[in-house]
Amino acid sequence: FSAALVDLFNRKHDYLRISLTERCNLRCFYCMPEEGVPLSPNQQILTDEEVLRLAKLFVQSGVTKIRLTGGEPTVRKGIADIIAGLNDLRPYGLRSIAMTSNGLALHRRLPGFVPLSSGSYIGPQAKFKSSLDTLDPFKFEFMTKRRGLDAVLKTLDAALESSLQKIKLNVVVIKGLNDSEVLDFVEMTKDKPISVRFIEFMPFSGNKWSRFKMVPSSDLLDRISATYPVVRLTDEVNDTARSWKVPGFRGEFGFISSMSDHFCSTCNRLRITSDGQIKVCLFDAKEISLRDEIRRGTSDSELLRVIGLAVSGKSEKHEKMDEIDVISNRPMILIGGLLTHV
Ligand code: GTP
Ligand code: 5AD
Ligand code: SF4
Repeated sequence: FSAALVDLFNRKHDYLRISLTERCNLRCFYCMPEEGVPLSPNQQILTDEEVLRLAKLFVQSGVTKIRLTGGEPTVRKGIADIIAGLNDLRPYGLRSIAMTSNGLALHRRLPGFVPLSSGSYIGPQAKFKSSLDTLDPFKFEFMTKRRGLDAVLKTLDAALESSLQKIKLNVVVIKGLNDSEVLDFVEMTKDKPISVRFIEFMPFSGNKWSRFKMVPSSDLLDRISATYPVVRLTDEVNDTARSWKVPGFRGEFGFISSMSDHFCSTCNRLRITSDGQIKVCLFDAKEISLRDEIRRGTSDSELLRVIGLAVSGKSEKHEKMDEIDVISNRPMILIGGLLTHV
């Protein structure tokens, strides 16, 4: 494991999130400001070759898991080639290739990435995650500014028929908007082998966050356990979610409590934005451009030194949420935390 990926608190970063685009075919209010975001000119976005060069360098340095994000990763033209290129990194130690998508167009594109029968294009252990915040078409349109619930549900069905191993649904919970649907989402896990993850609403520049719009995970668990018997499952060390299950149900549910119970001490992730900046923490506005280094002709070993510099600047934990400087931190759509979604 390269020392460049170990920070001052001895956290080993073996998980890289690569954002492939700033564009998205939805307009989720919690992910981007209502007026949209100014998009970077195309030449500022990493090319496929640059993405793959960085991916290879990170994998050779110890990264074992790469998650593709956006914007919405499937709107990037070269995505199939990038996935194929990532597959070629498996001999260097890449074990998991994952993607977070809003699921809107994926029912059409999924067969190109992952055959619906055996053998898979993304490769063994491919995982897929879609955002779906509501099962109500009107609320869907209100939250995303687009119609598309049926398309996302189609994607979910296609994913369930595919060879994908883990299918997760992300639900960002907003008080008074979709928190009334939490039991419906738990009910979905009865017959579907999926993992539904309830996410606490986080503040980003322009997303009108307020503590009054946030529902703490503990409240949701109380509501769920008043209706269903629930058991706690064991999570992997670096998992962001705390998982639960209704005994006898095929799927499970979990909570990502970034606000009420952050998981910084076990953080193993680094991010590259689509314009090629390394971002060591979701809540730290500091970014260093790897793209500029690459275009200056920097060698791999020098690039690794710059990456090491960024990693050594990672804070032990993020500030208390109400002190976070949401104004200077870019909106989620530009960070590539995710995708925008449903
Ligand atoms: P896997 O562990 O690969 O399944 O990914 P994940 O759950 O971290 O990623 P996903 O793209 O599904 O993001 C789900 C939610 O996790 C986001 O909405 C955030 O709330 C939270 N999250 C993701 N990455 C970070 C991070 O680095 N820091 C914090 N605090 N929260 C994060
Ligand atoms: N708070 C919590 N989660 C968010 N996401 C996007 N913006 C926010 C936010 N403000 C989620 C999306 C996506 C995941 C990667 O991040 O739902 O599923
Ligand atoms: Fe890691 Fe920063 Fe996220 Fe905390 S907020 S889990 S330190 S990236």
